[in-house]
Amino acid sequence: MQLAVRTQTSPSVDGKKPPYVIAKDLVKYYPVPGLGHRTVKSVDGVSLTIGEGEVLGLVGESGCGKSTIARLMTRLTHATNGELTIGEHDILHMEGEALRRMRRVVQLIFQDPYSALDPRMRIGQSMETPLEQHRIGTRDERNALVYQMLEEVGLDASFYDRYPSQCSGGQLQRVVIGRALLLKPSFLVCDEPTSALDASMRTQILNLLMDLKRRHGLTILMISHDLRVVRYLCDRIAVMYLGRIVEIADRDELFRAPKHPYTKALIASSMLDETGLHAPEMLLDGDLPSPLNPPDGCKFHTRCKYATERCSASEPEFSTVADEHLVRCHHWRDLG
Ligand SMILES: Nc1ncnc2c1ncn2[C@@H]1O[C@H](COP(=O)(O)OP(=O)(O)OP(=O)(O)O)[C@@H](O)[C@H]1O
Ligand SMILES: [Mg+2]
Repeated sequence: MQLAVRTQTSPSVDGKKPPYVIAKDLVKYYPVPGLGHRTVKSVDGVSLTIGEGEVLGLVGESGCGKSTIARLMTRLTHATNGELTIGEHDILHMEGEALRRMRRVVQLIFQDPYSALDPRMRIGQSMETPLEQHRIGTRDERNALVYQMLEEVGLDASFYDRYPSQCSGGQLQRVVIGRALLLKPSFLVCDEPTSALDASMRTQILNLLMDLKRRHGLTILMISHDLRVVRYLCDRIAVMYLGRIVEIADRDELFRAPKHPYTKALIASSMLDETGLHAPEMLLDGDLPSPLNPPDGCKFHTRCKYATERCSASEPEFSTVADEHLVRCHHWRDLG
């Protein structure tokens, strides 16, 4: 059994606390059956950090690799390459008991609460099972913890005996969030936690998450394709395109001064959703290219109206726009 490598247990040289989550060049290639050595490049060199108690948003179109990041962070899938530390744990190389303990510390909330719960189990039992699996408390203590948690997530005691089919989607998402929190995680990965819910529920669940974050000092990765969600909740936002992060910045900075043409297009289309006003020159044309066969050069050049020969020939590295604002575009300075 390999023991988790301890990294960065002491403050860095400048006295600042190191980030709580550090991903470095994370790669996930899925082999494709029947296609020889060809792979789907779902995540292709993602580096990011999340500070303790910070909420980082991760946005991008369907298929750009967001859920794959979530699965890598929670060790539901193995990385092809890269490094990932959460707290002081080397996540990608954990095994055995260390991995089991890590699974308490890092919790994943999915989009669909129906599939996260066993329809044949009463809510209370569903919430108690992970406590049992992690051998937390006595039977009575576990029972008390579940009732307490139901209250904390805004559900009354009668939910304990209900079945999932007797609850709404919003109520079930409260159950799922409560079940995760019972394990006292420090890092929550939320993968589109509200996109299966209707609009009125959405805000309630997001507010609940923020409330719990403050109360429990959680660090959160909030994945969404909806810019309004991340704008509402996140301290910083990373924009993903075809397996890579193309821009990352403080929330207000990103919305005030987006630099990547892709970020600009995403923001324009989310405003369009909101206002119904047209800004067609800003919107995205065409589909996301296949991650089986990503374009050379800048991954976005096939859809970018500012693309030049340089963009199809070479992939841009990150440029620093301002403190903590990075962008991967050859021409960001010229785009105004
Ligand atoms: N197990 C798998 N095997 C092969 N390819 C996969 C697998 N899981 C994901 N992919 C591919 O990896 C790419 C990224 O998928 P992922 O689910 O991470 O995207 P996403 O950004 O979460 O999309 P969405 O917004 O639709 O949830 C997609 O092209 C997807 O088809
Ligand atoms: Mg997804």
